[in-house]
This record gives sequence, structure tokens and C-alpha cells, in this order.
Amino acid sequence: MLEISHLGKSFGGLHALSDFSVVVRAGEILGLIGPNGSGKTTAINVLTGIYPASKGGFALSGQDLTAAKSEKIARAGIARTFQNLRLFSSQSVLDNVRTGQTIHCSAPLSRFSAFASTEEKQLRCEALALIERFGLGERVDWPAGSLSYGEKKRLEIARALAMRPKVLLLDEPAAGMNPVELEWLMAAIREIGQSGIAVILVEHHMRLIMRVCDNLAVLNFGVKIAEGPPSDIARHPEVIAAYLGVAH
Ligand SMILES: Nc1ncnc2c1ncn2[C@@H]1O[C@H](COP(=O)(O)OP(=O)(O)OP(=O)(O)O)[C@@H](O)[C@H]1O
Ligand SMILES: [Mg+2]
Repeated sequence: MLEISHLGKSFGGLHALSDFSVVVRAGEILGLIGPNGSGKTTAINVLTGIYPASKGGFALSGQDLTAAKSEKIARAGIARTFQNLRLFSSQSVLDNVRTGQTIHCSAPLSRFSAFASTEEKQLRCEALALIERFGLGERVDWPAGSLSYGEKKRLEIARALAMRPKVLLLDEPAAGMNPVELEWLMAAIREIGQSGIAVILVEHHMRLIMRVCDNLAVLNFGVKIAEGPPSDIARHPEVIAAYLGVAH
């Protein structure tokens, strides 16, 4: 479904991403791992049109999106969360999720339910259901900025899902989460995969990666050095040397 071929991104002379190829199928959870600075976030930034690719390309269900702008990519079905949270802090939880929906709704958002169209009512219901699913039902009207860190991370995922994506790119969703939130996150990511969405999960949290992912791709200095099921990757000598270390 998402085909990435020989993708590269350079910043001046720095090859942040040199050669990244992978295919992610519908419903598959692909873990993207590698040392700090190995190009994981850069890959996500290129796949969402924040930076143009310097080489290679990517296509979603056969549609080449390599040169597409962010909005077109989002409309085509690629959504993401950010390593550094990017919520609208002064807006409510509901409005943050509604912002995600604007990518596929034709009518402008209406606050006045008496005048709301059927589509508007349906979108509002969908947003509320997502908020409930992500355990934020009691926070619907709270400004996003007043949520705890773990709640903000959940809201980011809910907002990305509000775009009804085909592919979801998660950049370190577990960072800063406590053990209870982590268990919850694992179940949530699996459920997203089961709903048919392809997931690329960038994470340093190895337990999460090993338990949730169907396959792993490993980057080192911007190059993919290994790909395969988690159990194979955990034994891969080059991956152990570059990233997992002897302790693992
Ligand atoms: N906008 C930019 N301009 C210049 N260099 C950049 C830019 N973005 C990233 N880089 C560099 O590209 C390399 C890869 O960075 P990237 O953020 O993709 O790594 P990462 O694998 O996500 O690391 P981490 O695990 O620490 O988040 C790093 O050397 C980084 O400094
Ligand atoms: Mg990163």
C-alpha cells in the first residue's frame, strides 16, 4: 500500500536519510528503529511533505506522492503525530480533533448545533467517539494545553485518526508515558492496525516495538541496515552492534 523506494533527504552536505526502501501493507505495523540522528524523523517529515525528497520517492496505493505538498499527502491518506507535540494549546480537546477532520469535510465547522448539517452532526459524533476511545471523554472541553503529557500524546493520535488516514506515522508516541499508559498505547496501536490502517511506528521503547510490530526496519546513518520480523531483528549482528547493544 505505502511503497517507499530509495528515499533520501540531504541538508546541505549532511545525508540525514540516504537510502530507505520499504513497503507497508494495509493493517501492518512496521517499527522504524535506529540510533539518535539515524534519519527516522526525517523519513516521516519527507513522507508528510514537510521536506521535499532529495532522491527516491514514495507512493500510496499506486499514487506517486513524492512531489506532493503536505495537504495533498494528508488528503491522500497519510497522517502523523509529532515527536515534539504540536497541539493547539488554547483550543479544546474537541476542537483539536475537529481540526483533523477538516481534511475530509466539505462544510465549515459550525458551533451552533441548531444550524448544523447532517454531515456536521456526523463529524461531531465521530470526533466525540474518538475522544472517548482515547480516554479523554471527561476532557472534551478542556484546553489541550491543560492536559497531562500522556493525555496530550493520546490527543495527538486521536487528531491524526480524525483524518481517516490509510497510513499513520507515529513519532515516538511512548516517550514520557508511564507503565499504565504504555500498556494502553500498545493496545491502541494494535487496534489501529486491526482496523486496516498501515502504521509506521518510530520508537526507542524496545518492549513496545517488540510486542506491537509485525515487522521492523532499522536505520543507521540514514541507511536501512536490516528489515524483518522483530525476533529476527533482535538477533541481527549489525543491528545489535549499531543500536541494540550487548545488554539487549
Ligand atoms: N532541518 C534540518 N536541518 C539540518 N539537519 C537536520 C534537519 N533535520 C534533521 N537534521 C539532521 O538529520 C539527521 C537525522 O535527524 P532525525 O531527526 O531524522 O533523526 P532521528 O532518527 O529521528 O533521531 P532521534 O531518535 O534522536 O529522534 C541528524 O543529524 C539531524 O541533526
Ligand atoms: Mg526523531
